[in-house]
Amino acid sequence: MEERSQFSSKFGVLAAAVGSAVGLGNIWKFPYVAGQNGGGAFLVIYLICVLVMGFPALMMEMSLGRMAKTSPIAAFRKLTGNDRWTFVGVMGALSSFMVLSFYFVVAGWSLEYIYQSVRTTAFNGMNGQDLEMLFDSFAVSDCRPYIWLTIFVILTGMLILMGVQKGIEKGSKVMMTLLFALLLFLMVVSYFTEGGREGYEFYLKPDFSKIKPSVILQALGQSFFSLSIGVGVLLTYGSYVKKGNVVTTSLQIVILDTLVAIMAGFVIFPSVFAFDIEPSEGADMAFIALPAVFSKMKGGLVIAIAFFALLAMAALTTTVSLYEMLVAVLVDSCKIKRFWANIAVGVLTLAGAVVCCHSLRPGTVFQIGGQSLFEIFDYVVSNYMLPLGALAMMVFFGWAYDQKKLHDALIGFGMNEGFYKVYMFVIRYFVPAVIVLIMLNQFNIVRI
Ligand code: PHE
Repeated sequence: MEERSQFSSKFGVLAAAVGSAVGLGNIWKFPYVAGQNGGGAFLVIYLICVLVMGFPALMMEMSLGRMAKTSPIAAFRKLTGNDRWTFVGVMGALSSFMVLSFYFVVAGWSLEYIYQSVRTTAFNGMNGQDLEMLFDSFAVSDCRPYIWLTIFVILTGMLILMGVQKGIEKGSKVMMTLLFALLLFLMVVSYFTEGGREGYEFYLKPDFSKIKPSVILQALGQSFFSLSIGVGVLLTYGSYVKKGNVVTTSLQIVILDTLVAIMAGFVIFPSVFAFDIEPSEGADMAFIALPAVFSKMKGGLVIAIAFFALLAMAALTTTVSLYEMLVAVLVDSCKIKRFWANIAVGVLTLAGAVVCCHSLRPGTVFQIGGQSLFEIFDYVVSNYMLPLGALAMMVFFGWAYDQKKLHDALIGFGMNEGFYKVYMFVIRYFVPAVIVLIMLNQFNIVRI
């Protein structure tokens, strides 16, 4: 077998894992899901989900990888010596494929918007309606969405070809820092946008009457999606870790990822209200609200280009993580050479992305009950497959695996005894119980 890549430093894995977590999920998806689910009330539930469900689950997945030192499907075989848990890895690979299928489409949009920033000189003079039309006509056009997504698949494949270390580690550090700085700057600009006050009210004042069980499901799904939990991506990255404290690393990932999402909300919601965009607009919200901010700004052109370029790069570090996991699965469990595994994943995900992109056109065959495959993949993966994938890993981790070995491993990863006790309670009982309850409720078996 080819040698497994290792990250050169502790910061390397942190940067790569943050690179996977921070992406379109924070800037494109979080604001619109929050917008559709009541704004402030969603934000509160989301933060609770991140802290009490996401953080423990993330730590579990990283530790599993570190214990197994191999990619998801092979990991369970290696830890148990049998095939009983292989299904978790297979389900993860399927989730990864589904996420990539719609993710490549949106990543392509960010490339289009670099082009549009230049073409329209930072959306100069366009109002909310113009921007909506701009997006709609692009999304259903014959060529460009497909070209952009193909470019994105090729870019991802090439980064993987260059190797885990060089490809991901270096780029992530610089880009994340820049993205962070730019978001901070845009928050300030948004703050001074006329008519934006209502946006803060919507985003920060929780109206608890808006909390329905479906909102809780979406908050849970969004928190797992945003943190990259339940697919096996973190497990794969964990398998490259050699040293470092698992608790601190996990906490750092959770904090950075959540900060970026919250900041994106601070940029987008004032603009949504100032430009009369519906806060429940849906998947195109960020691509209408952000250009609206740039259209009013002095020096908007440079900022707009920089922003969409950074968004594309943040998306790239995420697609790399999902793609790398699929390649690692093929290499580790099917014994395919890395190069051919890379080609296979490229062809497969390109096909998935083309279908998802096509499903957004009105009246295509790729719709079920008026919903596009794009929306269905997104909804099903985030709200069901990721929480259930994480649940399966948790049952393995907290119940099926040798608890003595687990204890020694976790202490070896830097957990102290007291924390270990509380943590194991949370991971064995609390998080699984909440996930099961939310699911049962969703299928009308139990009423919360
Ligand atoms: N966390 C990524 C984002 O927010 C998406 C993702 C989901 C990546 C699941 C890997 C696994 O953009």
